[in-house]
Amino acid sequence: GAPVEVDISDVKPGELKVVEWRGKPVWILRRTPEMLASLPKNDDKVADPTSDKPYQMPMPEYCKNETRSRTEHKEVLVAVGICTHLGCSPSQRFAEGAQPNLPDDWHGGFLCPCHGSTFDLAGRVFKNKPAPLNLDIPPYMYLSDNKILIG
Ligand code: FES
Repeated sequence: GAPVEVDISDVKPGELKVVEWRGKPVWILRRTPEMLASLPKNDDKVADPTSDKPYQMPMPEYCKNETRSRTEHKEVLVAVGICTHLGCSPSQRFAEGAQPNLPDDWHGGFLCPCHGSTFDLAGRVFKNKPAPLNLDIPPYMYLSDNKILIG
């Protein structure tokens, strides 16, 4: 498939935009400083904190870190919005705070409605969930501060 150019100037802090790449939904989440600060709190609760397991879509080296983003714009998460269990869309996003069916120390993230896998705001899957791996990260680069090329 052809690379997809995306203008992210309309994605405000805390917002998520979905674009299509190779027939898959790709999420672009511009995290707030608070959302970024929540990530280290999950390091010991997620199954693969720095994405070192073998991924079907090879994990870009520049995203093998806690934020799972390129360092020049670590506030922006670019991830494939497909659950790594059986392919549902973990589209329900819950903010920090107590939520039904989520742990008390929930720092924000996504819930897959099919079998209950939970992911943090870097798309990292929590331990002991049906999904074995973090959400895939497609290869991407910045053409400018607000323009991303995916693929
Ligand atoms: Fe997401 Fe099963 S498909 S938990």
